[in-house]
Amino acid sequence: MSKHVAAKRLAAPDIASRKGGEPIVCLTAYTAPMAALLDPHCDLLLVGDSVGMVVHGLPNTVGVTLDMMILHGQAVMRGAERAMVVVDMPFGSYEAGPETAYANAARILKETGCQAVKVESGPEVAATVEYLVRRGIPVMGHVGLRPQAVNVDGGFRAKGRTQTERERVLAEAAATDAAGAFAIVVEGVAEDLAAEITTAVRAPTIGIGASAACDGQILVTDDMLGLFDWTPKFVRRYADLRTAVSTAAAGYAADVRARTFPAAAETYALGAKRRVAGAGDAE
Ligand code: KIV
Repeated sequence: MSKHVAAKRLAAPDIASRKGGEPIVCLTAYTAPMAALLDPHCDLLLVGDSVGMVVHGLPNTVGVTLDMMILHGQAVMRGAERAMVVVDMPFGSYEAGPETAYANAARILKETGCQAVKVESGPEVAATVEYLVRRGIPVMGHVGLRPQAVNVDGGFRAKGRTQTERERVLAEAAATDAAGAFAIVVEGVAEDLAAEITTAVRAPTIGIGASAACDGQILVTDDMLGLFDWTPKFVRRYADLRTAVSTAAAGYAADVRARTFPAAAETYALGAKRRVAGAGDAE
């Protein structure tokens, strides 16, 4: 029997029970190696539909497909052992009604092995959230700045600047909570609104650009690693990988052009006997 005992993976009730307690640490992940690096430090990894912009170069998340989310969800599940993995339902995969949403969410859970899905939520999808939760699919909500509404909103803008907008965001959070979401992402709102939502709802709130008033925090990993030349105001950069990657690529290019790479130490020296290369040789 293998001595390796897999770490117990966190699940929706573990995250839900952290309301008002130790802050919930979340980051996005899209690939297996990055998920493996983030896993020991995070409670929850979100395979966000931000993958469309971050990895695939799309202008927004509207073009992201269910197949893309499933492919990246599978990769993240291979890399992460302990963190709960949540996969975003892409635009068009859940809004039409509960039954379509259920079929698509079930596909995500079956084909990736992830523990839950996330939907951009409010009163208009509350019945869908409840339908999924009652049928065994944990749902994370997402209120405030909802990136999939970019075409209605005309851009990515913080929410809650007017009283009407404030009430709309509060209503989104209340409806998502009443529908049974185990956690709610709150994006792009000022601290007082984030605090009001966090007090009003039973589910833990996970803030992104929503102040420290939330029960947990999430960032797009590539933003906090400094992989882009521009990041929103609310992002803190913990690394400057853009410079590191660019410097590494420039060094490699210079060495190849100068014929100093590969050197003898990076070159196979085959013995007198001719051998057919096999998988074990490539070390
Ligand atoms: O898609 C995403 O990465 C998200 C986070 C920004 C919360 O929804």
